This record gives sequence, structure tokens and C-alpha cells, in this order.
Amino acid sequence: MSYNLKNRSFLKEIDFQPAELRHLLKLAEALKLAKYAGTEHRTLAGKEVALIFEKTSTRTRSAFEVAAFDQGAHVTYLDPSGSQLGHKESIADTAAVLGRMYDAIEFRGNSQEEVETLARHAGVPVYNGLTAEWHPTQMLADFLTMHEASGKPYHGLAYAFLGDCRFNMGRSLLVMGALMGSDVRLAGPADLQPPQDVLVLAQDIAERTGARITVTDDPAAAVDGVDFVHTDVWVSMGEAKDVWHDRVAQLTPYQVNAALLRASGNRSVRFMHCLPAFHDTNTVVGREIMTETGMLGGLEVTDEVFTSDASIVFDQAENRLHTIKAVLVATLG
Ligand code: CP
Ligand code: NVA
Repeated sequence: MSYNLKNRSFLKEIDFQPAELRHLLKLAEALKLAKYAGTEHRTLAGKEVALIFEKTSTRTRSAFEVAAFDQGAHVTYLDPSGSQLGHKESIADTAAVLGRMYDAIEFRGNSQEEVETLARHAGVPVYNGLTAEWHPTQMLADFLTMHEASGKPYHGLAYAFLGDCRFNMGRSLLVMGALMGSDVRLAGPADLQPPQDVLVLAQDIAERTGARITVTDDPAAAVDGVDFVHTDVWVSMGEAKDVWHDRVAQLTPYQVNAALLRASGNRSVRFMHCLPAFHDTNTVVGREIMTETGMLGGLEVTDEVFTSDASIVFDQAENRLHTIKAVLVATLG
């Protein structure tokens, strides 16, 4: 079954029905194969895509740019200081202007409200390239990666996310798993668990899709029997630097290390992370926090796990390209 998703925005996971998300994932698989085989068609020739980043990015920006170029489209990259947005021009006015020039707009901003406002005023599809609340394009990559690595259907996947479950990755993995009918476990301390409205949303969806949802403060219980263990940085973009101290104290019991992977009881368990990750001292921030806390083996994940055969983080990163391309082709092609 195929679906016409032309002119649709992707601001959060629930913007698409489960069958539509499956369609995007299938399209991503086909586009990945076509790229590998050298048989890709340029279905976006003549299209113009604006990429607005109010926060920094490596994967999301690169994936949008390469996906667009592969398909024959052009992009304009507007960095955090490269436009009038926010300082001298409102989001609504910017949207109205860009909507006259571009066929679609990607936006990575601070709040969901901003990307929703942009979409209301742009008149062209808008893609959320990450807000504090949701990271929908990342979810397509994560699900394609889990499907490829396990060979299981989406409703057969069992995975855990450990860390700050109030932020984009925890919330998105919860709701996407609910939509796809998966076995979803979230683990974090009581203060860092998903907000009640997001949990209720996921539970409501799960009733329709057959997903199983567990939220716990027990990391070992969360990973018991799962195929995949996900984590994310303990302090996200836009958060104050001074929260690091408390966050490390709260989340150290949820670090993904070899003992935690063993607690899954699954010898083929895989490790996933949206990246960037603080697993060694080769970054300015990582080195500073690891030296300060004495956690030289890694913060949210140990270097041992990150560099082990269980780690599929770079397959996951590559799939950002194929899945974002699927979104562009389906909504613009
Ligand atoms: N995972 C992810 O969104 O990475 P970037 O911040 O590099 O885009
Ligand atoms: N939670 C992280 C995800 C980065 C891709 C952040 O928002 O910084």
C-alpha cells in the first residue's frame, strides 16, 4: 500500500499515521538501495529547500543537504546568526517570506511552538529538524536502523531508552514506539520522566496499535529482554551549563555500560545513540565534565560500549540521510 504524502509537514511523530510512517520507512529502504546501486532518480529537480538552524547540527544538516543534492534539489543553509529570524523578524513574517521562495523549509529551533508557527504561516511543507520537545526525523532513522539490525518487523521491536526522558529523544522514542506497536521502555529518575501529557498520549496510541509502554526508575528492569538500548546526552542543547552537576548525579545510575547491556540478558543486544555522544575525552565539553566528575570512562555511555561490536550508532547516523530523503521525496517529489 502506498500513500500520497505530498505537501505534508513533519513537525512531530503524530503528524503521520502508523501506516504513513511505515510507507516512509519503506521508501527510505528503497532510496538507500537505489543510492547503493547507482540507480537513483532525481525526483526533486528544480526544488528549493531552506534549512534553518537556530542550534548547531552535523547529521541533520548534512542529511538534508546530501538528500536534496542526490535528488536534484537545491538548499540554502541559514545558520543561527545568518538571518534576521528572531532578532529583527518574527517567525511568522519569516515563514511568509520563505514560503514565497522555497518549496519546503527545514527548521531546527528551540521550542515546538516556533516550528508550529512557521508551518502555519509558510504555505509549504515544514520539517522539524529538532526542537526541545520532538526529533521526528531522527525517529525514522532509528526505526529503520532497528529493523535492519534485527530483521524484526516494527511491532516486534523491543527497546529501552535511558536518560532524561523529558527531552526530545525520550519523548520521541516513546511516542514513535507507541505508533509503531513496539515494546518501549523508558528509564530515568522520577524528576526526569516524561511529562504526564506525553505519557497519556503514548498510552492512548498504544491501545490502538498494541504497543507496550513501560516507564520506570529501574534501569535493569527497563533493559530486561530488549533488543536495543538507546541513550542521549544528559544535558541537551539550549540547557544551562550549570545543570551538568545535578544531571550527572541523577543520571549516573542510568549510564549505558557493559554491565547494563549484560542485564538485558540478550547476547545480541545493540547500543544506539542519536549522537553526538560524550563517550571519551576527545571533545571540549566531554573532557571538561569527565575530568570534573572523574567519569573518565564516559558519561551517558562508556567508551567501551560505544566502540564495541554492539554499537550501531554510525549505521543509525547514516540512516538519517536515507530517511530524510524519503521525507523530501514523499512530500515534495
Ligand atoms: N542526531 C542529530 O540530530 O545530530 P545533529 O545534532 O548533528 O544534527
Ligand atoms: N537531546 C539532544 C539531542 C541532540 C541530537 C539535544 O537536544 O541536544
